[in-house]
Amino acid sequence: MTVNNSKIKQSVLTINGVTFEHVDIFNVVNDFYYRIQQDPILQVPFYSVHDWPEHVERITHFWWIRFGGKPYLFSDYNPVAKHFFAGFNGELLARWLSIFKDTLNTHLKPEQAELWKNISERMGESLTIKNEMFRREYEKSQPK
Ligand code: HEM
Repeated sequence: MTVNNSKIKQSVLTINGVTFEHVDIFNVVNDFYYRIQQDPILQVPFYSVHDWPEHVERITHFWWIRFGGKPYLFSDYNPVAKHFFAGFNGELLARWLSIFKDTLNTHLKPEQAELWKNISERMGESLTIKNEMFRREYEKSQPK
């Protein structure tokens, strides 16, 4: 699979003094979701994904804009509800992060990998808190 370069107006960004090419992000995301599809536990919540190339493109864009890159896709992310209904929990998160970090180590320079590990850990903490808040609201809205 390749990146559709025609949509990307900028191919390099720098965050906290660390430079990423768009293709660095794509390579990580592409290989990460390949590994997810081979993982006996994490493949299960991801059965909801039917179009893997489209998912990889969306998530590459997600990280690109999260790192401060210019948006080049129209995408409206709603991760909290999606994760809640996918059964997000602490154990799955730990497994997700472990596979993610291995993937970062495979593809990136050490300073790139370290920065992205820190950002993903913070996002994991934030998703955990938001997931609990979502659960409370969801349970309140369910008929007794
Ligand atoms: C720090 C950890 C994680 C990050 C940064 C992350 C990030 C994301 C993002 C940005 C999306 C797209 C949301 C959207 O389309 O609105 C997504 C979708 C998804 N994530 Fe995660 N995720 C993380 C951990 C997990 C874990 C632990 C699970 C296991 C349940 C998981 C399962 C999914 C699933 C099933 C989808 C939806 C796929 C679909 O569109 O059907 N994620 N994730």
